[in-house]
Amino acid sequence: MKLLVTGGAGFIGSNYVAHRLAAELGDRIVVLDKLTYAGRRENLAGLPDERLSFVEGDICDRELVGRLVGQCDAVVNFAAESHVDRSIESPDSFITTDVFGTFVMLEAARDAGVRHLQISTDEVYGSIGEGSFTEASPLDPSSPYSASKAGGDLLVSAFRHTWGTDSLIVRASNNYGPRQHPEKLIPLVLLNALHGDPIPVYGDGAQVRNWLFVTDFCRAIDAVLEHGGTGEVYNVGGPDEPSNLEVVREILEIAGADESLIEFVGDRPGHDRRYSMDSTRTEGLGWKAEVSFAEGIRETVEWYLKNRDWWEPLRSGEYREYYERQYGRKLG
Ligand code: NAD
Ligand code: DAU
Repeated sequence: MKLLVTGGAGFIGSNYVAHRLAAELGDRIVVLDKLTYAGRRENLAGLPDERLSFVEGDICDRELVGRLVGQCDAVVNFAAESHVDRSIESPDSFITTDVFGTFVMLEAARDAGVRHLQISTDEVYGSIGEGSFTEASPLDPSSPYSASKAGGDLLVSAFRHTWGTDSLIVRASNNYGPRQHPEKLIPLVLLNALHGDPIPVYGDGAQVRNWLFVTDFCRAIDAVLEHGGTGEVYNVGGPDEPSNLEVVREILEIAGADESLIEFVGDRPGHDRRYSMDSTRTEGLGWKAEVSFAEGIRETVEWYLKNRDWWEPLRSGEYREYYERQYGRKLG
């Protein structure tokens, strides 16, 4: 299969490309990535050059996308602005990439007649008090990020109904693992702990996320890409639902850091309280989450401890400026 992977230089995309090439299926992969602050060429280092090519570019570029999609058998669209806090600070690029970019990808997939797999999120459903989201749950997004992802999902549905485009959606819960940008909770907590910096916990820290180890998600994507029904939506959640405070405490314990670093700060506006996914439909394709949070978090911490060269440059420059804007006034 010749696969176009957009956003393949980011966290999940780069894990997916590595997973796919390691599976020795004879795939050829083309990565299209704009290399925003979140995308890095080095995330694809060490992968077999003869089966991987990289194109720096924007999914909003119709001519480029049309040409690349026309040369491939299927497309997996990871490319997105992905951080909720940044969408609250500055939503424009979220609307552009996550809505218009998805539209451009869909047009190209329709014209080329290839399968388009849209990578989406549990956040499109909003927050749930009890029970779990199924694929029939209504869309009720809370942030500019989740609203723009929901916009992309609705376009998938429109293309399916209007033109019969072979497009489907996979909605995942919070991923974690190697190469996640330090702006996200798990790496942020670990790297702050290693530096003895305060750890900002929003609100009361009792929010719940349905953590999914990134390799489990990669296997789910394979199952949906290969066996998913056209036009269908597939939920993918992790096996555990710790609260944010439990997550923070577990990381501090593994890193041997003190809980006195925890600082409760003002809450994220519109903060969703709990996400929980019912993955029964994806399990029907033969997939099951295999990595518990206890195992996955140890593996993740070990990876960051062994790969200082990966994250040290990220703690300066653009991220430092963002960090000051986001936390400077919040943290004592
Ligand atoms: P990320 O921010 O780490 O990576 C996003 C990648 O997309 C980067 O490489 C970036 O350079 C690229 N990109 C951004 N705008 C682009 C554009 N206009 N054209 C081409 N490339 C562009 O994100 P991630 O955490 O790896 O998430 C990947 C996908 O998975 C996103 O669609 C996100 O909504 C979805 N998702 C993420 C999670 C999670 O927990 N991280 C959970 C569910 C769904
Ligand atoms: O649920 C899937 C989503 O998970 C993906 O669609 C998003 O792309 C991804 O970024 C992630 O969104 P969250 O907002 O849940 O992840 P984040 O790591 O930003 O935050 C996790 C939880 O931790 C959330 O309840 C907010 C809280 N938090 C986060 C940060 C960065 C804090 O308490 N303090 C922080 O400094």
